[in-house]
Order: sequence, then structure tokens, then C-alpha cells
Amino acid sequence: MQTPWDHRFAQRTQRMGSSAIRELLKLTEQPDIISFGGGMPAPDVFPLEEFREACERVLKDSGPQALQYGPTEGYLPLREMIARHSKRYGIEITPENILITSGSQQALDLLGKILINRGDHILVESPTYLGALQAWNAYGAEYVTVPMDNHGMVTDELEMALRSGPKFIYVLPNFQNPTGVTLAEERRTKLIELADRYGVPIVEDDPYGQLRYEGDHLTPVVELDSQFRNDCSVCYRGNVIYLSTFSKTLAPGLRLAWVVAPPEVIRKMVQAKQGADLHTSPFNQYVAYEVAKGGFLNRHVKLIRDVYRERRDAMLAAMDGYFPPGVDWTHPEGGLFLWATMPETLSSPDVLKAAIEQKVAFVPGAPFYPLGGGHNTMRLNFSYCSPEKIREGIARLGKVIQDKLGGSVGK
Ligand SMILES: Cc1ncc(COP(=O)(O)O)c(C=O)c1O
Repeated sequence: MQTPWDHRFAQRTQRMGSSAIRELLKLTEQPDIISFGGGMPAPDVFPLEEFREACERVLKDSGPQALQYGPTEGYLPLREMIARHSKRYGIEITPENILITSGSQQALDLLGKILINRGDHILVESPTYLGALQAWNAYGAEYVTVPMDNHGMVTDELEMALRSGPKFIYVLPNFQNPTGVTLAEERRTKLIELADRYGVPIVEDDPYGQLRYEGDHLTPVVELDSQFRNDCSVCYRGNVIYLSTFSKTLAPGLRLAWVVAPPEVIRKMVQAKQGADLHTSPFNQYVAYEVAKGGFLNRHVKLIRDVYRERRDAMLAAMDGYFPPGVDWTHPEGGLFLWATMPETLSSPDVLKAAIEQKVAFVPGAPFYPLGGGHNTMRLNFSYCSPEKIREGIARLGKVIQDKLGGSVGK
């Protein structure tokens, strides 16, 4: 329906649409639906008591500062803690390399603001994180894609894509959203070498790196880049912009995340952030620091890993039992999602309609492909529902797919 506002909106809004995921999240608010849709952490693992105590301590000890405006870069003790923690995780940095943002989603938007001119091509995995496409579409981004397989971005096809002169490479090396796939170590090295050879920076989005349920930790791309440059200084000055967040390890409602980048990139992002929201909530930063310090965050992440590992295993086992032949899926070593591919004859929006009638939901895969494709794919989240609900939901979904294929359930 046309409204008088339509011709007033700026051109950049023409490529803004409501995210398929956000629309779906509305449906999942119905209490009787089993939702594998959103990327939501399990609410039962939120450390409520620790947050309550931390809020009290912050108000008592630092109330006036926590409720005041703060520096755009973020709360220094929190940035120092992130720098220390990153070191244990393999990344050598100082607080100069860190900007606190209001969620990684804001970091993606700020990167669009400082890096993307209308018509610039961004090199992305196909499929890739929908929220990044949403953020960058508003800045007039175009995309060049590199396919994924079970070991992440197919780096053999990267060089060809780099020849088109993209502005930057966007990569999700650990338990990618949406596929759950991890970028193999040798491909990480190849990515860095090729990016360096073609002079193209890398944006490494890593919200899930700490949520590994099996296998060995793989070196972050930012750290491999610093090794590649033989850079022994404690201040990182390489080719990678690294993003991570407290959304999956503490709570997404904090809207608290961080960027690691060379100081000149951080300074430009600070200017962009001042125009967006001045700074991230100091109160939330003080509280997160209080909750996380003294080893609590590490202990808490171990608990989350145990809970989510069980849920992932429940989903994989249920899919083995209830999904009909012809459907394939990934086996993520961590993160929150797995990815299923149905036979070509099926369309996931059609399957979703039938699934919602059976009170189960997932996200259709096509919107994660910036240049089209994936009509028969779906993203399934395993962190939000209990193992019992997962089994029940997958049984219902298996039946829906089987009915659409026209045959009998089970393998
Ligand atoms: C790959 C990726 N990047 C960024 C985000 C945004 O995270 P945040 O809650 O920190 O804004 C998400 C959230 O699911 C994500 O999966």
C-alpha cells in the first residue's frame, strides 16, 4: 500500500527490507510453536544471579560514572580485559586496537559506513550472514560470492573472485551462521596470503568461536595474519578487522560486542560511532565487566558448551531418525546452527508454511544467498529449545518434508 511517506524516504532505503528472520521471530512468540528459527541463546543459561549482584555492585561502587555519558571507545577496564583474554585465545593486541560496540551488528553497520561506497563489491561466502547483507545494502553494496563446502569458503575459487577488485572480504571462520561449517586451517592461511597479494582487507566475524563442542580450537584469521606479517609488536597493525560479541556467551540483551582492528581503523570507526549513538551503554559495560571478571566468564562458557553440545547431539540424532532420505545436513563442531539441504524439487518456504501448521519453525535458506540460490535449504537453530522439544520438533519437521516428498517417514 502506497503512503505519502514513500517518496520522502531516501534512496538508500529502497534496498532495506524486513529481515525474514525478524518476521519469523514474531511467529515464534506463539507459546506452542517449537522454533528452530532465531539465533537465540537458551534463556535458561543466562546467569541471572550474577547479573543481579553485579548491578548492585556497580550502582553502589561506581553508580555516577556508570550512569553518565562515557568514552566512545568503551570502558577501559573492559577493553583491557578483552585484550588479556584475546591473548590467551591467541590474539596479541592492546586496548588501542579495541572498540566496544552496541552488538556486532552495529560493528557491521559502522564498517559499512566507513568502508563502502555505493556500488563497491564485497566478497562474501555463499551463503553468508543475513544481518551483514542487511547492514551493507543500505550503503549500496554489491556482492561477489565464493561458494562454501563442508570445510568453509572454497579458497580455490577465491583468487578468481579477488580479481574483480572487492573492497573487503567478509568471512565467518567458526561455525558459520548460517551453515555451522568451520573454515579449515590451511584455507585460513590461503585466505590471508591471497588477501595480502591482492591488497584486500578481511573482516572476520566470530561470535561463536568460544562455543566449540568438539575438535581443536583453530587459530583466528587475525592471529594468522599477524604471524604471516611476522609482526612482534603488541599493537596489531595487520590486514584483518575482527568482530566478536558477548551476545552468545553472556546475554544478547546487553547489546555488547567488540572490534579488534589496526588503531587507524578504530579511530575512523570511533568517528562513525559518535554519529550513531555516541557510545555503547556504560552501565551495561560496567555490569558485563563485573560479571565477566575473575574467571566467571570462562566457567560460564564451559557450562554453555555442555548445554549446547547436548542439544546439537539431540538434533543430529533426531534428524538421523526422522528426516527422509535425500535430505543432507551439516555436522557443526560448535555454534548455534546447522544447515539442511532438501531435494531440489522442494522449496523451503513451502515446507515452512506446512511446518508452521504443525507448530514447528525454521529459517528458509534463500535470503542468505546474496546472488540467489538455496531455494531448498534451511537453517536450524539448536541452542534455544530443550532436547525433548528438539526431538519433537524434528519429528514433526521430518514428517512435513516426507509428506511434501510424498512417501513414508524414516530411514
Ligand atoms: C555472524 C553474526 N554476526 C553478528 C551477529 C550480531 O550479534 P550481536 O548480538 O552482537 O549484534 C550475529 C548474531 O547472531 C551473527 O550470527
